[in-house]
Amino acid sequence: MRETIVTSLSSDYSKKAIKVLSGGYDAEGLIKHSEKTAIFVAFQDGKLLGTISLEGNRIRNMFVLPKLQGKKIGSKLLKYIEKFAKKRGEKTLKVRSSLTAFGFYQRLGYCKTRRGSIKLIGSVIWMKKEL
Ligand SMILES: CC(C)(COP(=O)(O)OP(=O)(O)OC[C@H]1O[C@@H](n2cnc3c(N)ncnc32)[C@H](O)[C@@H]1OP(=O)(O)O)[C@@H](O)C(=O)NCCC(=O)NCCS
Repeated sequence: MRETIVTSLSSDYSKKAIKVLSGGYDAEGLIKHSEKTAIFVAFQDGKLLGTISLEGNRIRNMFVLPKLQGKKIGSKLLKYIEKFAKKRGEKTLKVRSSLTAFGFYQRLGYCKTRRGSIKLIGSVIWMKKEL
């Protein structure tokens, strides 16, 4: 997660924002996060390739290793979590997208609901999809 933030988000966010964002992904924080979220990962040969999680009906932690982006790992994870959410009875999924991932979510059927700004990070785009 940290590797992807530092490498992939740097063109859209300031150095300070990258530091704040990547600082939120230490082991302790993730263990706490896992208490209220369903976390899924893509693995191959014992190596972690990508992650996604679902907190209520909100998608979080959508990350694919920089050197493996563009190989459909992200869309597989997203489609998997959409099925999981639908089975659980969710009707809509929402996501607070980075500027970086906006086009990806659009491609997968998510629509912009509003633009927002987060203190110390900057612009984000809220999006949703009916399941
Ligand atoms: C966004 C991200 C998860 C996409 O994962 P990925 O495995 O690279 O994406 P895929 O290969 O599954 O791409 C699926 C489709 O979306 C398109 N796409 C992927 N990233 C895109 C982007 N940033 N902008 C526009 N289109 C994009 C692909 O071209 C592909 O289109 P196609 O079906 O026409 O071929 C990944 O690039 C990433 O980790 N980005 C940085 C972290 C980030 O911003 N995460 C989101 C936090 S909210």
